[in-house]
Amino acid sequence: MYKTTMKIDGMMCGMCEAHINDAIRKVVPNAQKLKSSHSKGESSFVSETKPDEDMLRKEIEKTGYSVLSVHSETEDKNSGNGQRIKPDYKNWMPKGMVLGMACGAAVFLLLSIVTLLTPISEPVKKIMIPILFVITVIFIFVTIWMFLMYRAFSYDGNRKMSKQIIEGVASCINIPDGGRGLDVGCGSGALTIACAKKNPNSSWTGIDRWGKEYASFNKKLCESNAKAEGVSSVSFMQGNALKLPFENETFDAVTSNYVYHNIPSNNRQAILLETLRTLKKGGTFAIHDIMSKAKYGEMQSFVEKLKSMGYSEVKLVDTTNGMFMSKWESAWMGLSGSAILMGRK
Ligand SMILES: C[S@@+](CC[C@H](N)C(=O)[O-])C[C@H]1O[C@@H](n2cnc3c(N)ncnc32)[C@H](O)[C@@H]1O
Repeated sequence: MYKTTMKIDGMMCGMCEAHINDAIRKVVPNAQKLKSSHSKGESSFVSETKPDEDMLRKEIEKTGYSVLSVHSETEDKNSGNGQRIKPDYKNWMPKGMVLGMACGAAVFLLLSIVTLLTPISEPVKKIMIPILFVITVIFIFVTIWMFLMYRAFSYDGNRKMSKQIIEGVASCINIPDGGRGLDVGCGSGALTIACAKKNPNSSWTGIDRWGKEYASFNKKLCESNAKAEGVSSVSFMQGNALKLPFENETFDAVTSNYVYHNIPSNNRQAILLETLRTLKKGGTFAIHDIMSKAKYGEMQSFVEKLKSMGYSEVKLVDTTNGMFMSKWESAWMGLSGSAILMGRK
């Protein structure tokens, strides 16, 4: 939802407020919470999409008032009971895993100290202490690494890497008005919702297995995130990327982000083909993942294979060269090989 506030010069009374409201309704027929105040010289309203600033200015100025400023910003929706709902896309590095690793580090540190202080035989101590020390150091190292990943991915942190990637992948999507899109492995709904927001005249389905490994992601979370974002053209369902429950050529666009490398498989190109099976002829795709040779095999020959199958504009774009992250970030975060496979069927 967008809240738009305009400073308007020339409003003198309640009649002027009504004129301005009528002008705004002409441009934004579905405007909600529309109010104008001559004492404040201000009008404001809430709308599902960002209003056209120029059209607002023109329509209001036709009635003889001057628009001094127009400011639109996204607004978190209220949840009926007055509590504010903010979208919560969680984190690709589950918080539980970071805390679990930190607890492990604390337990082994404690064990090391107890062993050091306990009066047990020296030869046993000599073996136990270095072993416990090494395990403790490994736990501490992995905890720090996971915490740094958590912080880099976080939607609330400074880096906001997940947000950058989601918005970047969504911007590669091309879908006609009235089209249907699919997001495979939608997690908390971030990419499905971003695609729907960027393409308000299309409808999107997010599908996910929602297994134990990403326990904080589920259908209810996706739906509440869509509500918080004011997006109604999305739906979510449970299903497996290995065998999608859709007919051939159902969708006008298909997308996915960081999903297939999580699926145990010795043929991830087959998973890509399963996704592309659901794409209509002429439809577009943008699939982002860690497409290293170890995980996906030879991807350049897969690009050629798609071209020989009649796909066009197919390209594999490296996203670790500054597009979504730097080479250094991709290396320490274990995301080397990240790339977007995109094109048209
Ligand atoms: C790193 S998360 C990415 C989530 C989402 N695409 C995003 O960008 O925020 C990986 C997602 O893949 C999903 N996933 C893993 N295996 C899957 C499968 N076989 N079918 C569908 N989804 C799967 C997980 O449940 C998880 O939500």
